[in-house]
Amino acid sequence: MTRPLRLALLGCGTVGAEVVRLLHEQAADLAARIGAPLEIAGIAVRRQGRDRGGLPVDPEVFTTDALGLVKRDDVDVVVEMVGGIEPARTWLVEALRAGKSVVTANKALLAEDGGTLHDAAAESGADLYYEASVAGAIPLLRPLRESLQGDTITRVTGIVNGTTNFILSAMDATGAGFAEALDEATELGYAEADPTADVEGFDAAAKAAILASLAFHTRVSAADVYREGITEVTAADVASAKAMGCTIKLLCIASRGPDSTGAESISVRVYPAMIPRSHPLASVGDAFNAVFVEAAAAGQLMFYGRGAGGSPTASAVLGDVVAVSRNRLAGVRTPSESSYAALPIRPMGEAVTRYHISLDVADRAGVLATVAGVFARHEVSIATVRQASASSAGGTSPAARGVDAILVIVTHAAPDAALAATVEELRQLDIVRSIASVLRVEGGV
Ligand SMILES: NC(=O)c1ccc[n+]([C@@H]2O[C@H](COP(=O)([O-])OP(=O)(O)OC[C@H]3O[C@@H](n4cnc5c(N)ncnc54)[C@H](OP(=O)(O)O)[C@@H]3O)[C@@H](O)[C@H]2O)c1
Repeated sequence: MTRPLRLALLGCGTVGAEVVRLLHEQAADLAARIGAPLEIAGIAVRRQGRDRGGLPVDPEVFTTDALGLVKRDDVDVVVEMVGGIEPARTWLVEALRAGKSVVTANKALLAEDGGTLHDAAAESGADLYYEASVAGAIPLLRPLRESLQGDTITRVTGIVNGTTNFILSAMDATGAGFAEALDEATELGYAEADPTADVEGFDAAAKAAILASLAFHTRVSAADVYREGITEVTAADVASAKAMGCTIKLLCIASRGPDSTGAESISVRVYPAMIPRSHPLASVGDAFNAVFVEAAAAGQLMFYGRGAGGSPTASAVLGDVVAVSRNRLAGVRTPSESSYAALPIRPMGEAVTRYHISLDVADRAGVLATVAGVFARHEVSIATVRQASASSAGGTSPAARGVDAILVIVTHAAPDAALAATVEELRQLDIVRSIASVLRVEGGV
């Protein structure tokens, strides 16, 4: 067997510790699959003396000098499991420029400044793999990057954040409000002490950027992604969705198609939306992730599994370690990106979708015609209108809330800007007491 391949592990937390454990437990199989044994050259951490719970590794390998470890001549592969933009970017650029293979789980860095990493990898001919950065254990980036290279991907729709999926699933199952469901998620360890990155959609937006880049051969960064979180989703929204045979999910959507001038462009967005209960993504419960891919020749594909957690994420990291190690032994590399298409990114105002709007209105003759007139003026076509029962609007009677009637309107597909203008004009009408909710509807209700 050839000489061992030497790994620099950066980070030994939730993901890193599982990687260390699996490297130990599966050493013989990994060596056989790669054709050379793997050895840990060092593990960079922040707190050198921290109790690591009896990890099967020599305590001498721990260091707080991550950059020094990356620079060592006896390191072949750098595996980054720390997170954040800096100093991770500096470490990885240093590794790639030196021709070392890099495996990273760092979605934030890839979405913020993936271009810098891809450029460094291309310049030196080094491998850059990042399967664990999106949807944890689910093999997703490799299929997009390799298996579907002969096809044209038209749309990627995903549930890529386990915390928000747990919260929305709990709201759907129990009728709880957002705050109550978030408390439950925190108690059970599904939400972090500061849940902002999850509930405001930042985490999903980073993953959306990575998915869109791979699907459409275009550099997309987190700043290009339109983002709304789930903090405004109410129990009444969930009840309205149920009344329509829908459930609410935080979706990341990346799609390609013609813009208003007919030019091919892409749209990347993250927001809570109603989807029909018959849609494959509707049954994705708890903290699971799933991604629905539509391609011109392949048709519809669904990827499902655990999107986070130490072992599931370590599985994806180790899959990449095996791939880059084999490449090193064979003296080849796999390009980390393909950005030749460089498609323009459509503004959110041009994103076309359907809407569910719930209005508290005065119960007078002519109200419906006035409301319909506003939609018509903005060329938003109405698909259905119904007067909601008190219970389907959230369990509080209209009389108790000082309103006369609740109108629930579902539109046909319309540009986001037209819908925004419609809602703004409705807000000005004195017959509209309030706009109880505006939610996008995806997945062909
Ligand atoms: N957790 C998941 O389920 C999951 C899923 C997918 C992707 N990811 C990604 O995987 C990465 C790691 O996540 P995690 O959950 O494992 O994080 P974590 O549990 O917080 O662990 C972070 C590790 O990085 C070390 N570290 C922090 N700052 C450092 C520095 N300046 N120099 C050297 N080491 C430093 C920490 O050292 P100490 O141990 O000494 O504190 C710790 O070992 C992130 O990019 C995350 O987005 C995580």
